[in-house]
This record gives sequence, C-alpha cells and structure tokens, in this order.
Amino acid sequence: MLILILGGTAEARRLAAMLAEREGLAVALSLAGRTAKPAPQAVPVRSGGFGGADGLARHLSDEAIDVLIDATHPYAAAISANAAQAARAAGVKLLALKRPPWTKVAGDDWIEVDSVEDAVAALGNAPRRVFVALGRNELEPFAEAPRHAYLIRSVDPVDPPLAVPHATYITARGPFAEAEDRALLQRHKIDTIVAKNSGGDATYGKIAAARALGLPVIMLKRPALPDVPSVATVEEVVAWLDHAMAPSTARGV
Ligand SMILES: NC(=O)c1ccc[n+]([C@@H]2O[C@H](COP(=O)([O-])OP(=O)(O)OC[C@H]3O[C@@H](n4cnc5c(N)ncnc54)[C@H](OP(=O)(O)O)[C@@H]3O)[C@@H](O)[C@H]2O)c1
Repeated sequence: MLILILGGTAEARRLAAMLAEREGLAVALSLAGRTAKPAPQAVPVRSGGFGGADGLARHLSDEAIDVLIDATHPYAAAISANAAQAARAAGVKLLALKRPPWTKVAGDDWIEVDSVEDAVAALGNAPRRVFVALGRNELEPFAEAPRHAYLIRSVDPVDPPLAVPHATYITARGPFAEAEDRALLQRHKIDTIVAKNSGGDATYGKIAAARALGLPVIMLKRPALPDVPSVATVEEVVAWLDHAMAPSTARGV
C-alpha cells in the first residue's frame, strides 16, 4: 500500500516514523518547503507545492498512491481543501489527522478573533507589550500598529524584520514548556499574547503561562476545513490503516 502523508507537523513526523517500521507499506512525506532546516524524517520526503488541487490529483495518480493522510497544521486550510478535492478526483482514500483545539479553562482570558488584522485591532490604542506566536509569514498586519512593542518567536528568522520601532525576535522550534514560557513572558514584561489555537502539547506552554500570569490571549479562530473523514491522534490513523489493509473478509465486508 502506497501512502502519502501531507506533513509539516510533529504528528506527521511521528506518524511517518511509526509507519516506516511496518511491513507492506511504502510511505512518503510531503512538506511545503517553508522551513530552512526541516526536522529529519524516517521516510522519503518530497518538498514544495503540487500546483493546486489539480497538481496534487496528478501526483496521486502518477505515483499510484492508495491512501492520502492530511496531517497538515489545522491552520493550513488551502492544502487541506486541495487534499479533499484531489483525493476525490483521483479516487484515493483520504484521512485527515487534525489536533483538537484547546478549550478555555477557568482562569483563561481569551479574546477570539477571525484574522491577524482583527488581532491587531484588538490590541487597541494604548501601547502594549505583545508576545506574537504566529508564523513568520503572517506578521505584516502588525506593522500597522507600531505603537506596541513586539516579542516575536518563529522557527526561521523574520527577514526582512517587521517595520516597527520596537521588536525583538527569537528563533526557536518547540516544544516549549510552561515554566520556560512563563519566564520568557516575565523577562520581557509581556502584557498580551497573540496565538493560534494549534492544539496539542508542544505549544500549550504559553497558554498555560498566560493563565498563570493573568494575561489576556488574543486567539485566532481556526479556519474552516473540508468535511472529510478525520481523526485526532497518530494512533487512530494507524488503527484506521490496519482496518483499511485487512482482507475484506476480516473487515466484515
Ligand atoms: N499555517 C500554520 O499555522 C502552520 C503551522 C505549523 C506548520 N504548518 C505547516 O506548514 C505548511 C504550510 O502551511 P500553510 O499555512 O502555508 O498552508 P496552506 O496555506 O494551506 O498552503 C499553501 C500552499 O502551500 C503548499 N503546501 C502546504 N502544505 C504542503 C505540504 N505538506 N506539501 C506540499 N505542499 C504544501 C500548497 O501549494 P500547492 O497549491 O502549490 O500544492 C498549498 O496550496 C503545511 O504543511 C503546514 O502543516 C503550518
């Protein structure tokens, strides 16, 4: 069985490592090619866009892929829409692996917004000290609010830097622990956090730290994703594949 994983997440990497060990599977992983030094992977990797849904459908047919696993980030809405359309067009089975979002607990102070522009507007007029934990390609709207001081964390350097007078940059790859993030927020006297509701443990540290310090989080709402079969964990993907690979009699078909 030939499996293509659309990746760029820790889950995709872990899934690839688990499937690489299994008999009867040939697994490849696809990355968008955004990060300069992607983490090493246990299976062959291809990198770069396919050229829209049509390009992905062609790739699925040309490579005779049997199963497509969309394990991209929950905010990567374009590739997920393409995956749904391409799998349908190529007659390939599709399963999405999407982390459930975090939910608010007592002590959380979240302001939920639809876009980065709305997050900037929610910062208001008074100068704030803002920790920004978004992708480095999503920072442009903050240039419209140069009165705030920004602490920006991203995997790769922000180049060119944001056109604002007060910005500090940190390049780091998660996971980030709560204690580490709490110390970071305190050291930089942060009063507001802007984040995505990524779900999972790796980047929850800042959310827990904000709660502990009584700081508001301006949370970008998740984008709409296609309505396709979906699971929440790597283990569920493996169980789904086991079922899909079992002889039809064993599946009760
Ligand atoms: N958005 C986030 O917050 C976030 C956070 C962490 C990691 N990531 C990862 O970074 C990648 C890009 O995210 P994005 O928000 O730019 O996605 P996006 O807006 O949904 O995708 C934009 C385009 O990038 C290409 N692409 C995206 N993921 C790809 C993959 N795994 N393999 C091959 N091509 C891919 C596709 O180009 P074509 O149309 O030419 O095929 C897609 O149309 C994703 O793999 C995602 O898992 C994203």
